[in-house]
Amino acid sequence: METQGLHIETTPREGDPIVRAGQPDPCTIVLFGATGDLAQRKLFPALFELAREKLLPESFAVVAFSRSSHDNDAFRAQVKKGLEEFARTQPLDEATWKRFSSRLECIAGAYDDPASYQRLSAHLEDVSKRHGTQGNQLYYLATPASTFPKLIHGLAGAGLLPRQEQAGAKQWRRLVIEKPFGHDLETARELNRELATVLDEKQIFRIDHYLGKETVQNILVFRFANSIFEPLWNRDHIDHVEISALEKIDVEDRGQFYDETGVIRDIVQNHLLQVLALCAMEAPTSFGAEDIRDEKSKVFRALRSLEGPDVASHVVVGQYEGFRDTKGVAKDSRTPTFVAMKLNVDNWRWQGVPFYLRAGKSLSKRVTEVSIHFKTVPFCLFGTSDTCQRLQPNVLRLRIQPQEGIGLSIETKVPGEDVNLAGVNMDFSYAETFDKPVPEAYERLLLDCMRGNATLFARKDSVEQAWAYITPILQALDSGKGGEVQPYKPGSTGPTAARELLARDGRHWTVFP
Ligand code: BG6
Repeated sequence: METQGLHIETTPREGDPIVRAGQPDPCTIVLFGATGDLAQRKLFPALFELAREKLLPESFAVVAFSRSSHDNDAFRAQVKKGLEEFARTQPLDEATWKRFSSRLECIAGAYDDPASYQRLSAHLEDVSKRHGTQGNQLYYLATPASTFPKLIHGLAGAGLLPRQEQAGAKQWRRLVIEKPFGHDLETARELNRELATVLDEKQIFRIDHYLGKETVQNILVFRFANSIFEPLWNRDHIDHVEISALEKIDVEDRGQFYDETGVIRDIVQNHLLQVLALCAMEAPTSFGAEDIRDEKSKVFRALRSLEGPDVASHVVVGQYEGFRDTKGVAKDSRTPTFVAMKLNVDNWRWQGVPFYLRAGKSLSKRVTEVSIHFKTVPFCLFGTSDTCQRLQPNVLRLRIQPQEGIGLSIETKVPGEDVNLAGVNMDFSYAETFDKPVPEAYERLLLDCMRGNATLFARKDSVEQAWAYITPILQALDSGKGGEVQPYKPGSTGPTAARELLARDGRHWTVFP
């Protein structure tokens, strides 16, 4: 398309990326929790896919530190079984598996035994020589949060976690830590303090896998690579914002973990607040990690706190029927498996614009999306009150999953003599536009750890700020002041009280209205 001498391309431009991702460094990944659910379902499939696409460094190895002793062959067989079920590309590419499996090793040890870490240290030196990984080590803690302090001190005690700033250190050592990062503000602070006794902040990668999702990364590109939305992105034009992460699956076999955690700690404190921050933040000075993280941190600081009786009027919690019969769940559990809440961001841009968040399990379908609801037109020109009542405000929907894409609803005239209006949708779909699959979040995040790029990881301050916002809500709910846990039917749209939360403000949810 030519417009006044300006060539505008309207098809996807492949070619030179704007920000080059950079080559991952040679390294050994030292994996704790290699036989767990996360490793089987997400980490090994992500590493395997990277191997298949030849994106892993040439010099690369994985060493699993395991409490149950395995020999390498048994360990590899177990990884292969998981890949056959969970790898993104099926059937498994045998040539890739041959290459990949030759880099997998395991070593047995106990988390609280200094001698085990000494053995690990000697083993890693040997691996580094055999695989040419140059002494770079990425420690990945895919274990329950209660093990983190033991592991950190065990590794540090064996000299495996020197500070980056240590003079003459040519190799890098990084630590990847999975959520939940603490159980509340105090425990998160304590964990941050423990980490700081051993490592510099830039060596710590706190994973929030939502940040690695292609569609979540696209929020920033959408906002800051298109000039038409930014002038509208504020209280003058936006009525409210809805962020929903609704799941069809129930807690499956994670009953005990989930009963201790609940939906607010599992999804809101991390994933949804991170997405909210990307939607609400100011333009960063650059696309660099610290500039982006600085802006997100300002959003967390601007969240209006919810405490005591305010919690009951702003938060609805629910629990699906049958949750208490799950293995590992207390018979009288009050743990919420569903939450809907109204948040306010107290700053110039967002004053008076509510953000409604919702997350839950065992619902009728899986949808994660952000919808930005624009204001209604100031005056209706179209005659009858019936037509005017049907006039809908524009809604921009950022579909995070499934059917990844972006839709904008607009009003149009229905062809014909009369003035009749209909809402239609302008739509961009990743699957239709790009001739390649959307990568899994962990693929991107693992590569970023190997590159030392922390942009998509949560920084110490924002983790604590998110907990500072969430902890009083959890306390009010625990003490019973935050309202009752509402039961809902599995496979439903959640408790009716969630609908009432918006109805009170004269609004309704876009997903599950
Ligand atoms: C995890 C939660 O962090 O995110 C799970 O612990 C949840 O309970 C999962 O199911 C959802 O992730 P996704 O990528 O499927 O939206």
